Amino acid sequence: MSSTESQFDLLVHRMTHEADDVLSVELVHPDGKPLPDWAPGAHIDLHTAGPVRQYSLCGDPADTARYRIAVLKAPASRGGSAFVHHELRPGASVTVRGPRNHFPLADAESYVFIAGGIGVTPLLVQAREAAARGRSWQFWYGGRSRSAMAFSEELTALATDDASVVLHPKDERGRMDVAGILAQAPAGTRVYCCGPQSLTDDVEAACTRLGLGDRLHVERFAGTAAPAPEDGERAFEVECARSGRTVAVGPDESIVDALEDAGVYVDASCRDGVCGTCETRVIEGSPDHRDSLLSSAQHAAGDVMMICVSRCASPRLVLDI
Ligand code: FES
Repeated sequence: MSSTESQFDLLVHRMTHEADDVLSVELVHPDGKPLPDWAPGAHIDLHTAGPVRQYSLCGDPADTARYRIAVLKAPASRGGSAFVHHELRPGASVTVRGPRNHFPLADAESYVFIAGGIGVTPLLVQAREAAARGRSWQFWYGGRSRSAMAFSEELTALATDDASVVLHPKDERGRMDVAGILAQAPAGTRVYCCGPQSLTDDVEAACTRLGLGDRLHVERFAGTAAPAPEDGERAFEVECARSGRTVAVGPDESIVDALEDAGVYVDASCRDGVCGTCETRVIEGSPDHRDSLLSSAQHAAGDVMMICVSRCASPRLVLDI
């Protein structure tokens, strides 16, 4: 391992075509050493030639010899997926950080998994874990077409009397009726959803209507930017408790940007409120949460915040930095 405790270089061992525009990438330690443990729902940061990108681990958590991720070539991507598809090849070295898990599988009597496209990756591992825990589950997997749906055979092979898998290619079956699926969810179910925003929005709306909001767990591909207040963003001050330094945060900059401009190092990756790298303990002040990661209960508690997107509802924040 090199660099910092959680950042290290791995070798690309194998790349496999999994579906239209989807490649899986197997990463191993260059010296064959075991990789850090992870649990279903975890992701790693992959440092590409341009941006740092987050990818869910979709292999076997018990296999410490390798990590597997899957990457969709996204036409509108900011460069991460294009790098993997066009430049990354077996034998290359890549820098990885993590694993980190903001999407763990909470205990429940049963589960409904709803995946859209490449959102299948964390849910595939969670479904396996649910089966290992002896829980019943349903897996609804929507995609553009069968040929675009990665891991559908691997997923279908998990089906048993207590675990059903429904593939829902849009070109054959139209849009998934998530409200209908969720209306029939058994009592005590937890709902896990990962996919494009149109899907996560539909699932969130249906869960709210059905009183399942506190049993819904969502992982998003990108942050759902909270609108700025009508009277505009406000400036505020951040006190860094460890150094005693105080930094002014202007209305048009993030806390991370203001701290970096002031020479204060902070850990940040996605800068979009979705990865959890910049999670920071709040010592004093009222965070104005804008992330897509923490639950509403965590927002209400206000003791941690994502400083890449969240702001401050009071004039001053004291952070554990
Ligand atoms: Fe990813 Fe802040 S850097 S949540």
